Amino acid sequence: MKTIQVNASRNYDIVIDAGLLEKTGEYCSPFCPNKRAAIITDDTVAPLYLSTVENSLNSTGIETIHYIIPSGEASKSGENFLAILNFLAEHQMTRTDTVIALGGGVVGDLTGFVAASYLRGIGFIQIPTTLLAMVDSSVGGKTAIDLTAGKNLAGAFYQPQLVLCDYLTLNTLSKEVFADGCAEVIKYAVLNSPSLFNHLEQNLLDFDREMVIAECVSMKRDIVNRDEFESGPRKFLNLGHTVGHAIEHRSAFTLSHGKAVSIGLSIIATCSENAGFCNSETVKSINRILKSFNLPITTDYALDELVDIMLSDKKRDGKKLTFVVPESVGKCVLHAINIADIKTFLNPWFK
Ligand code: NAD
Ligand code: GLY
Repeated sequence: MKTIQVNASRNYDIVIDAGLLEKTGEYCSPFCPNKRAAIITDDTVAPLYLSTVENSLNSTGIETIHYIIPSGEASKSGENFLAILNFLAEHQMTRTDTVIALGGGVVGDLTGFVAASYLRGIGFIQIPTTLLAMVDSSVGGKTAIDLTAGKNLAGAFYQPQLVLCDYLTLNTLSKEVFADGCAEVIKYAVLNSPSLFNHLEQNLLDFDREMVIAECVSMKRDIVNRDEFESGPRKFLNLGHTVGHAIEHRSAFTLSHGKAVSIGLSIIATCSENAGFCNSETVKSINRILKSFNLPITTDYALDELVDIMLSDKKRDGKKLTFVVPESVGKCVLHAINIADIKTFLNPWFK
């Protein structure tokens, strides 16, 4: 078991262990003073894990209600946001009650925004059940829903009170969804950890889950502790994401986030080499590890259409867009580029 503490606007623990779901009641009790909790989950996760979580909470005297959304990105919607708020109000949930997100990043992002908004803020616990949600979305307090104009365009920074990562839940993930999480894990290794990179290369999908989740969460924790609201170092977490988001958007979200990030990581490595930030060995290492995790590294989309999407990225800063570029495996820098120069910077991969 590993416990990682976050010290942001709210201090909280991220607990990583096998079999935590059976102990949900024990862990959540200190955060449920009124002994009432609403669990939000999706229709894939509910039949697998909802009864274990509810039974554990009930056995410690916590009364539960639950709300089940359809699985998939389309559920991160304004309609579900309002429906869940109304559900909480109909059940007379108060500020001393708690909302628990049980599921992947979709459930976590939506539930977090509900928790931030209901009565202007209610208790919130994350129980992530995908690798991506364990290493990324459940940590750091970004919550969101999607708007017609794009992903994550409405939301709030709202830190949870507790995150429980039971990595046994990863055993029921499809290979595809597990691979999506691996793309984020590889991102952390390229950002900051040659030793994690080596461990992944040597063990591939048999990597040590507890150690790897803890390493990634620790890296994210260190960044969030320094820059909760993304004015500086938190931008490093966007490695592979600036191009990746454009690819995901261009595919109308038929390509998963993890796969888009994988392609984005490969493209930015090549462009980084061309701009003199890293050598060809770094690019080869990054491409090799992505391929060995069965992640894609190419796209048929044209540079022009992707750049158009990048220009409407919410992370654009006036006349500049900041890319995270690798200098070597384990070391990256921020590279702010004038809008007029973005095509020249990215062209080496597309030509
Ligand atoms: P997801 O929540 O859609 O889960 C993927 C699929 O796996 C779904 O069909 C889900 O029902 C299923 N699933 C979940 N847990 C399962 C389990 N244990 N066994 C079997 N099936 C299971 O997707 P995701 O990849 O977890 O998250 C993607 C979302 O996270 C996106 O909306 C993205 O924008 C968001 N995100 C947020 C942050 C953040 O900082 N808040 C960071 C990265 C990504
Ligand atoms: N997933 C990026 C962040 O939390 O900042």
